[in-house]
Amino acid sequence: MNTPSKPIRLDRYLASVTDYSRSDAKKLIKSGDIAVDGRAVTDPSQLIPATADVTLMGASLRAIGPRYLMLNKPQGYVCAARDRRHSTVLDLMDEDNPERLHVAGRLDIDTTGLVLLTDDGNWSHAITSPQRKCWKTYYVETAEPIAERCIEHFARGVFLKDDKARTLPAELSIIDDCRARLKICEGRYHQVKRMFGAEGNAVTRLHREAIGEISLDSSLAEGEYRALSADEIASVGH
Ligand code: URA
Repeated sequence: MNTPSKPIRLDRYLASVTDYSRSDAKKLIKSGDIAVDGRAVTDPSQLIPATADVTLMGASLRAIGPRYLMLNKPQGYVCAARDRRHSTVLDLMDEDNPERLHVAGRLDIDTTGLVLLTDDGNWSHAITSPQRKCWKTYYVETAEPIAERCIEHFARGVFLKDDKARTLPAELSIIDDCRARLKICEGRYHQVKRMFGAEGNAVTRLHREAIGEISLDSSLAEGEYRALSADEIASVGH
């Protein structure tokens, strides 16, 4: 199993999970009040695993980072830290320091389904970078019957208006006339809608079912979220 995250300097870890600046975190560590997995550590440069149990005068700091969460996103919420007109996915979270979380692969306001949130930038990069080939699986409904030719076109890649390069190869499985499952490994702006648009069709419903090997937990009602398991976190290689 991969480790969930790279080892991190203790002072950097403290600064990322608390409100201490890096220099205050250093002072705190040198004062001897910080323990890692039960042992006092006074060297700010010590590398610790991101999963370590770090305590400040006996109180665990681990609960506030790093976090890996899955949310079942309802329609009507935007995947942004804040928005002047709409509610954001962070409004659905009952978390300390929600502003430290970011979305690993945004969904449009009217798209439902799996959203991953984390404060681990390396981890989310492995999900969003097209080079890392992390497949996102979408359930799609369309206004018109889906033409068989789309399977080949999407596999070859299509030119989307204003984009310089074809989309990367994608896998389309047609379920019936107006329903399909599409797997893509990039996250261009409105990508699925624009791919069907390029074929003269319109997406009427879009729902993300999976990201890599992480599937939306069917026990989560819309708007609910849970922490990822260690295996789910590790399934995203980084
Ligand atoms: N593609 C889209 O068009 N919208 C989404 O929300 C996700 C992928």
